[in-house]
Amino acid sequence: MPEPTVLFTEEEIQRRVRELGAAITADYRGRPPVLVSILKGGAIFLADLFRAIDLPVRVDFMSITSYGGGARPSGVVRILKDLDQDVGGEDVLVVEDIIDTGLTLSYLLTALRARGPASLEVCTLLDKSARRIPPLDIRYRGFECPDRFVVGYGLDHAERYRNLPMILSVGSQAELDEDSSSLARFLGR
Ligand code: IMP
Ligand code: MG
Repeated sequence: MPEPTVLFTEEEIQRRVRELGAAITADYRGRPPVLVSILKGGAIFLADLFRAIDLPVRVDFMSITSYGGGARPSGVVRILKDLDQDVGGEDVLVVEDIIDTGLTLSYLLTALRARGPASLEVCTLLDKSARRIPPLDIRYRGFECPDRFVVGYGLDHAERYRNLPMILSVGSQAELDEDSSSLARFLGR
């Protein structure tokens, strides 16, 4: 596996999150949105973004799973936990950690749109746009992400590394499946 590299430091992430929060605050003044976060990865970004928005926003969570699981997204998702509130007539802002192929999000947006929100926009921390399949309109993006597997700040490999404060590039998912020792060494674990 290639040596892990720091793609975005904790300081870079925190600065960008504050900028996104300021932009959302300006755009949604007078109509505070419901932030919808997709568990689990999106929750870490949400926790910081939420506190960077100076409006009486609400949050809600969804948990979904892709059929066929993980590595090869089919775009068909099953809702494991739905929103607690009805978003009909609400301004909804979906908060995602990363958009890769975009298949998961595209499916989710269709499901949310059917509930009749007043508006529906997307805020993602990372945009791996090189791998996008369905065209997606992304209102807020933190960083463009290279076409490499990344972990940290909510992003996992086999449920690990979500708690890293920075985002690391670690080559491919297959390489990490095979051997995670260079990442463990990098992290001193
Ligand atoms: P999509 O349907 O291909 O856009 O898949 C998006 C989901 O795949 C994200 O919500 C992540 O859970 C996962 N994912 C995509 N790329 C990465 C990555 O580089 N690291 C960790 N998880 C990723
Ligand atoms: Mg994941």
